[in-house]
Amino acid sequence: MSNQNIKTVAVLTSGGDAPGMNAAIRAVVRTANSLGLECYGVREGYNGLIHGDFTKMGPRSVKNIINEGGTILKSARSSEFKTPEGRDKAFENCKKHNIDALVCIGGDGSFTGAKVFNEEYGLPVIGVPGTIDNDIFGTDNTIGYDTALNTAMEAIDKIRDTATSHNRVFFVEVMGRDAGFIALNSGIATGALDILIPEQKDSMEELFGTFRKAEKVGKSSSIVVVAEGEKLGNIYDLAKATKDEFPNFDIRVAVLGHIQRGGSPSCADRVLASKMGYGAVMGLVEGKSKVMVGVKSNRLIYTPIEEAIKKHNEIDKDLLKISEILAM
Ligand code: F6P
Repeated sequence: MSNQNIKTVAVLTSGGDAPGMNAAIRAVVRTANSLGLECYGVREGYNGLIHGDFTKMGPRSVKNIINEGGTILKSARSSEFKTPEGRDKAFENCKKHNIDALVCIGGDGSFTGAKVFNEEYGLPVIGVPGTIDNDIFGTDNTIGYDTALNTAMEAIDKIRDTATSHNRVFFVEVMGRDAGFIALNSGIATGALDILIPEQKDSMEELFGTFRKAEKVGKSSSIVVVAEGEKLGNIYDLAKATKDEFPNFDIRVAVLGHIQRGGSPSCADRVLASKMGYGAVMGLVEGKSKVMVGVKSNRLIYTPIEEAIKKHNEIDKDLLKISEILAM
């Protein structure tokens, strides 16, 4: 089934930005152009739909951006789009620009917006998973995750240098509001003593037990990687409780923060974003709508957007076991 009614597509980036979003925009614009479709970029996510911030884009508008972090279209978490009035204005602007379909690059919050918009107005929508958190079902990896992971790894490597020089214990917080993918994988890659993630029930006693074991085997410094969404407590409270238990420890806290969201995308993210951007436009002209494009085992696949929102990729719990063994 193809959708020959699609003559004009709009693309936007929404939610937290992620390295590789520009590569995805480029792929959408150039694939649309190759099929003879018109393409508009919408600025600042759904806010741009509401305020009519549309720009006509052609293949030259996306030159020299494949290697750029951030998003040339800018991004936002739009509260106005959550209201029926906001969505109504957004649809009016889509009509004004003769938009036949919308490509939304973002995370699950952005997909929820796309789904509701499609249900209310029938405009075909397709989601492209762009978030550093890697917490979206229907794809092996999300755009930006690989770059963020490598940024976290490089930063933790640097922290290790100073931790070793001063025989210190470092608690390092990495991003991941509800998901521990960055923490788990950067923790393994940097030889962390312990990794605390929201998907795993942790306890202070277990953490203290790990510190005791580390002391016994003669470790003089260590790093604990903590996901932002860890349920045991925030990183400062964890560090304080550890200091109370081990007054002889010299403890420091480092929060990596938004450094993980920036930077030139890795090769893997550029390739992934290129495939997904292409897959999004191809999917629309093939008649797909209310789906998210993903890449699983190197193949482009499409998942109903509801499923992508509701389900979550499981973390590999074996990695926690491996990390425990290798840390000593
Ligand atoms: O969704 C990606 C993410 O980077 C989360 O890991 C983090 O909790 C959140 O965005 C931070 O969002 P903001 O930039 O709005 O503070």
